[in-house]
Amino acid sequence: MLFFGGTDSNTFMHYDIDLANIFHFQIEGKKQCILFDQKQNKHIYKIPYSLITREDIDFSNPDFEKWPALKNAQGHVTNLNHGEVLYMPEGYWHYMKYHTPRFSMSLRAIARNPKNLEKAIYNVFVMRNFDNVMRRIKGQKWIDWKNGQAISKTHTSFK
Ligand SMILES: [Fe+2]
Repeated sequence: MLFFGGTDSNTFMHYDIDLANIFHFQIEGKKQCILFDQKQNKHIYKIPYSLITREDIDFSNPDFEKWPALKNAQGHVTNLNHGEVLYMPEGYWHYMKYHTPRFSMSLRAIARNPKNLEKAIYNVFVMRNFDNVMRRIKGQKWIDWKNGQAISKTHTSFK
């Protein structure tokens, strides 16, 4: 997979549906990468039935008053420069912020951990379809409900 992007753009925090192992090659440009493993799900305002967190969190400069549970999340931050490679273990959440126009490439290998493989199969065949059906039936209401759940569930487990 090849990716192109402009200056000061970013991707949403997400993990890949198949929980693949990813080697990410930074061919041109600079970017910041923030990673979380799947154990951090309860701290990062994950949206239910989806692969993303709340879209209004700026992970490169988080507002801890608005998102207090993020204080308990343990992540990894790195800056990728021209010519560097980042290995993302299977299922890792990733967020990327581009400082310069960039060009990068990812090589992927399927999940090897049976638990992750099981989750990948569930995501592809169950979760995605369920989410699509609910979107069709309930539309924006479904999306609003999920966004609300991301906060209430995270704050329930946040002490
Ligand atoms: Fe990804």
